[in-house]
Amino acid sequence: MAAEVGFAVVGLGMGKHHCRSIDEGKGSRLAAVCDLDEERLAQMRDKFSCKGYTSFEDLLRDDEVEVINIATPSGTHVEFGLKVVDAGKHIILEKPADINTERIDALAKAGKARGVKIGCIFQSRLEPLNARIYDTIQSGRLGKLIGLHGHLPWYRAQSYFDGPHGEWKGTWSLDGGGSLMNQGVHTVDLLQWFGGGVKSVMGMFDVYNHNIESEDQAVALVRFKNGALGTIYTTTCCFPGYDQRITIYGSKGSILKTATELLAWNIQYEEGEEEAKEMMRIFGPKDESLGISSDPLALGADGHTLIVEDMVQAIREDREPMIGLASARNAVEVINAIFESGRTRAEVVLE
Ligand SMILES: NC(=O)c1ccc[n+]([C@@H]2O[C@H](COP(=O)([O-])OP(=O)(O)OC[C@H]3O[C@@H](n4cnc5c(N)ncnc54)[C@H](O)[C@@H]3O)[C@@H](O)[C@H]2O)c1
Repeated sequence: MAAEVGFAVVGLGMGKHHCRSIDEGKGSRLAAVCDLDEERLAQMRDKFSCKGYTSFEDLLRDDEVEVINIATPSGTHVEFGLKVVDAGKHIILEKPADINTERIDALAKAGKARGVKIGCIFQSRLEPLNARIYDTIQSGRLGKLIGLHGHLPWYRAQSYFDGPHGEWKGTWSLDGGGSLMNQGVHTVDLLQWFGGGVKSVMGMFDVYNHNIESEDQAVALVRFKNGALGTIYTTTCCFPGYDQRITIYGSKGSILKTATELLAWNIQYEEGEEEAKEMMRIFGPKDESLGISSDPLALGADGHTLIVEDMVQAIREDREPMIGLASARNAVEVINAIFESGRTRAEVVLE
């Protein structure tokens, strides 16, 4: 086995971040990049001194490449993925895994049959605070879950959709929606992951302040499998854009957070107060005097790099990657159910 696993990245928008993560990751080496956009291609090829392909078919024939990271428009992920499976290479798929669960299932089946590994990007799950919240819920210390709420009041100017590479954004066929599928999928994934799965949804969505086809504002009521209720709100209309906010209420406590900061950690048990102080010290709003050495967030636990390193280990140990397709498909299923509910004006029960 080669000392380092050879990776390639197709799609060099968000894919630029993958290039950096592969370059920085332990055991990974960026062997090639691929994009139709020659300017983007040249930038990454020169920056990382690797091979550059405009043809994806040529990339597939490169023997140095064992893993291909797919960061093309969301509705093309499975199409690219099936070709990678045919070539016998492993895959890291950007979020959402695709915009259609049947296609995701077809890729999972093909990958299994060919024995290739498919890892998915949901970097928010790897953030230390989110991982800690997940463990706390799993351990039962929040008690019975009552409510989980995720709000994403973001802003995107019209130029985001009109500018270079904006043509697929906000379309049904390639973006699978707008604020909910593209920007909101991380929020939806965190809620369904924390909450242990969604049973049914009721949704509404529309286009409010952009010239796009799909939606720029969506709301949903959510019933979780464990009986908890929740809400989801996503938009790209809230100028100038505000942080994601997640609140979780259980029978024994509450957790409130933004994307980056813990706002409250209140759990009813004897040591609860000490833990709350400690959690607020580590994850709460940052105090300038807090040294990097006592701040785990400052360790640069970049989610993409962790996912790349996990793929390297998955190959070496011949195990499944930590976030597989079965898990990544959940958010896509929830989102499509919200859209279906919005169209039919009825509660949609997930399979
Ligand atoms: N994890 C995250 O937080 C995060 C953030 C942003 C985007 N994304 C995801 O990354 C993906 C790409 O989004 P983006 O904003 O970078 O889009 P983008 O349009 O900026 O980039 C996509 C790239 O794919 C290239 N491409 C398209 N078809 C190709 C082909 N046949 N061969 C080679 N290259 C091809 C395009 O030229 C373009 O450079 C989406 O699925 C998006 O949801 C994830």
